[in-house]
Parts: sequence; C-alpha cells; structure tokens
Amino acid sequence: MKFVQAVFVVLFVAGYVASVEVEPHPDAATIDGDKLGQRQQILGTDRRNSSFSTNRLATNGYVAFDGEFPHHAEFYRHGSANGLFYGSLITPNYVLTSASGVVALSMVEEGGMVSLGSEGVFDAYETINFTADGVTVHPFYQHSSVLYDIATVRLNHAATINHHVQPIRLPSLSDGRNYELMEATTFAVAYDSSTYRRVVRYVRNKVMTNADCNLEHPTVAFDVQHICTDSFIGGAFCHRNSGAALTIEDERGRVQIGITRWMNDCDLNYPNLHVRVSTFRDFISMNSDYIFSF
Ligand SMILES: *[C@@H]1O[C@H](CO)[C@@H](O)[C@H](O)[C@H]1NC(C)=O
Ligand SMILES: *[C@@H]1O[C@H](CO)[C@@H](O)[C@H](O)[C@H]1NC(C)=O
Repeated sequence: MKFVQAVFVVLFVAGYVASVEVEPHPDAATIDGDKLGQRQQILGTDRRNSSFSTNRLATNGYVAFDGEFPHHAEFYRHGSANGLFYGSLITPNYVLTSASGVVALSMVEEGGMVSLGSEGVFDAYETINFTADGVTVHPFYQHSSVLYDIATVRLNHAATINHHVQPIRLPSLSDGRNYELMEATTFAVAYDSSTYRRVVRYVRNKVMTNADCNLEHPTVAFDVQHICTDSFIGGAFCHRNSGAALTIEDERGRVQIGITRWMNDCDLNYPNLHVRVSTFRDFISMNSDYIFSF
C-alpha cells in the first residue's frame, strides 16, 4: 500500500513537469515511444497492468438496477440481433452517439435500429428505426481518429417516454465545470454466461485532469475536447461500451458530460477516453432538437 501511495505522489508531481511536452494531437493509433519511455522511467514498472498479482482493481462493473439508465440506447444494424455500440436519448426524437460507431458500421449509408430502455437484465422497451439521412456525423470527424467523435441520429418517430425510456440532460450553457475529481458513471451490456442473459453493468471512475492522463497513457493523447477517467480508481470494464453516456450527478440529477469512446480491456487500467459533450453544444443544437438551458 505504501508503495502504491508513493507511486501516486511521484506521478502527481511528475504530471506537471511532463505534461508540457505532450503533443496535443498525435494519432491515437501510433505508439508514442518517447512518451512510453518517459512514463516507464518515472514509474519503473507498469502499475496499470492489472494482470500483476498486486493489482486487484480490475472489475467487471456492477449490475444496474431496473430503470437506472433510462437514456440507454443501443444501435443495431438492420436484420441483426447483436447490439454494436451505444448512445443516449437526448430528446424523444434524437440519440447522441459516437461518430466512430455510425461510420464503422455503415449506418451513415444504411441507417439502422435503436433500442431504448434498460433494466438490470436487459430488455428493450422500444425499437425504432432510423434512416441514413437521419445520421449527422461531425464534419471534422476523420475515420479512426479520437477527435470530433460525435454524431446525432434522428429517429423515424418519437420515442414513447416512460419509466424506462427517458432523455438525459446535457450540460447547460452556464456549466463551466471541468468535472475533475468528480465521480462519473458509464455502462455497457454484458453477456452473463451462467444465466444466458444480457445484463447492463456500470462502472464509476474519477475524472482525471487531461495532463495526468497524458502522462499515464502510453499511446493516446487526450485533447481539451476529451474527458478522461481513472480506471485505476473504480475499475476497468471487460467489454466494449463505445458511445455510452458518461454521466455525473449534481443537485438537479443526472447530466451527461461525456460520450465514452473506449474503456480499456480488463487487463489494463489505463485512463479511459470520453468525448467532452460541453465542447460540442453548438453541433448538438444545430443537429438535433435539444435546447440547452442556461
Ligand atoms: C501484463 O502483465 C502480464 C504478466 O506479466 C503480461 O503477460 C502481459 O503481457 C502484460 N500486458 C500488457 C498489455 O502489458
Ligand atoms: C424497421 O426495420 C426492420 C428491419 O429492417 C423492419 O423489419 C421493420 O419493418 C422496420 N420497421 C418500421 C416501422 O419501418
């Protein structure tokens, strides 16, 4: 325990020194050798490899209760029974999601289906189709980039709002928080092989500063348009959850602050990358019927 604390202190201090040298926009897919070397020099070893017997922090999240994520939206291709990525219902007519999902799965050309509503044990309350022209990808998004990874999807008809299906609030225009040190929740659907059922699970991770994340992650550069969370506190996921809402709770209830781009696999506790929703209020206003409050 003492060792872990010491590593945290070293990391904390070094974060401010090293963050100055981190490039703002390197391609996520390329390994930054200098950065990796720098980090290993500081840490001596890779504390984020959860396969190490001393690291017992990787978890599979927690099972959600009935109606916990009523904004949950899951994307399917036409004729497919497998959900592919997630989104969040922001109004009865629109779902917010990641550009990478709708582009990679050809939904910008073919449209698709969105299922809404979730319980601890997954069950869709409504499935609504959308057409290709209902999909709007951010104009600056480039395939496989982690930048501008945001899209809106207009449903063919409005969702019926009930206990299980409800839009999520987005950060108001006056919300200037960076959310650092707040606890943020994201979720994914997991397959439970013992019961043969799909289960919504969630993890809660602390929001880190981008400077600290840039120091800790060997391959990804966190930009101001990202939010980064610490899976070393709260645990990693063992299943993909691209496009899911990253939410916090404040005095007015739950608010979506991020769109999860990816969580790391079980065996790594690197920081997680989410798109910062407040950066894209203009894009969302122009490409949906969401109205931001003050
Ligand atoms: C994590 O550590 C294990 C055991 O030492 C090793 O086999 C594995 O390759 C490491 N994983 C990564 C991603 O470095
Ligand atoms: C939605 O799409 C599915 C699969 O392509 C199709 O079977 C169904 O008829 C569509 N529903 C509506 C209401 O258009």
